[in-house]
Amino acid sequence: MKDISIPLKMINLLADGEFYSGKKISRTLGISFAAINTYIQIIRNWGIHVFTVPGKGYCLHAQLQLLNETAIRARLPSGRLTVLSVVDSTNQYLIERMLTLKPGDACVAEYQKHGRGRRGRQWISPFGNNLYFSLYWRLEQGLSSACVLSLMVGIVIAEMLRHLGAEGVRIKWPNDLYLNNCKMAGILMDIIGNTGRNANVVIGVGINLTMSASEAKLIDQDWINLQEAGIAIDRNVLVAELIDNLRRALLQFERDGFSPFVARWQALDVFCDQPVKLLIGEREIRGIARGIDVRGALLLEQDGECHAYLGGEISLRGLSL
Ligand code: BTN
Repeated sequence: MKDISIPLKMINLLADGEFYSGKKISRTLGISFAAINTYIQIIRNWGIHVFTVPGKGYCLHAQLQLLNETAIRARLPSGRLTVLSVVDSTNQYLIERMLTLKPGDACVAEYQKHGRGRRGRQWISPFGNNLYFSLYWRLEQGLSSACVLSLMVGIVIAEMLRHLGAEGVRIKWPNDLYLNNCKMAGILMDIIGNTGRNANVVIGVGINLTMSASEAKLIDQDWINLQEAGIAIDRNVLVAELIDNLRRALLQFERDGFSPFVARWQALDVFCDQPVKLLIGEREIRGIARGIDVRGALLLEQDGECHAYLGGEISLRGLSL
């Protein structure tokens, strides 16, 4: 379906969580009675739960707080932001527009048809429940700083969520955000066109906010929503603050490098001083997690000695969790 204006209007109408009769929907949207179910099916495919009660009409399972461009912009002092309803992937959206972008340009979407996770995984992205956003940056220091950049992004997001009251948020090396020992958010870095010293980077962030278990049934690990932290979440405030904080932190990173962030990591590390195992291909290495070094390498104490591990193919697991 190319024109998605009717399903979007339908979501806007139903977002308050009230019942709407077929008559009201067909009049408001200017569609026939018969067409209602076709559009209801489309928004269901986008991950929206709609109840139908004979004699009463249609109603969402829960209210939706939709993205509001004006509210987001009001909290962003500068920089460009695109607010999208439906997109393949916010990272892909920026990658395709790379030549026109300035560092700090960002986009956020209600729904991703093909949200991407790390290692080729899918990122489950139901409409209006979570946050999906991406930000473009140009690394003057080249590729070597890309690894620590994603660690820095995790630090900034975790600190901000804790500042908003979600004190249980932690980071699992290299860049998963955890709450109550379950994954709550992830970061995906796409590096494009590494010319000379410069590297173009798209930083994608997905945060689970209010996703239902039925939407998440394809997730093959323990996951959690930020709402479990028991704080009131305004999606528009959250996305604006995150983008603003990330832009500031990226400027600091450009100026001072990663060193100032190393100590900040320590306070957020989900496995700090705990027994862990590293999975590197077929190998399994056990030790005590001792934080990270200035290159972003994971420090593992084995038989009283600290060893540094760095690389995208390493998985970290707790032994006591
Ligand atoms: C992970 O696997 O932990 C990384 C998940 C990253 C998901 C975000 S959602 C916004 C951006 N667009 C994508 O397609 N992926 C990232």
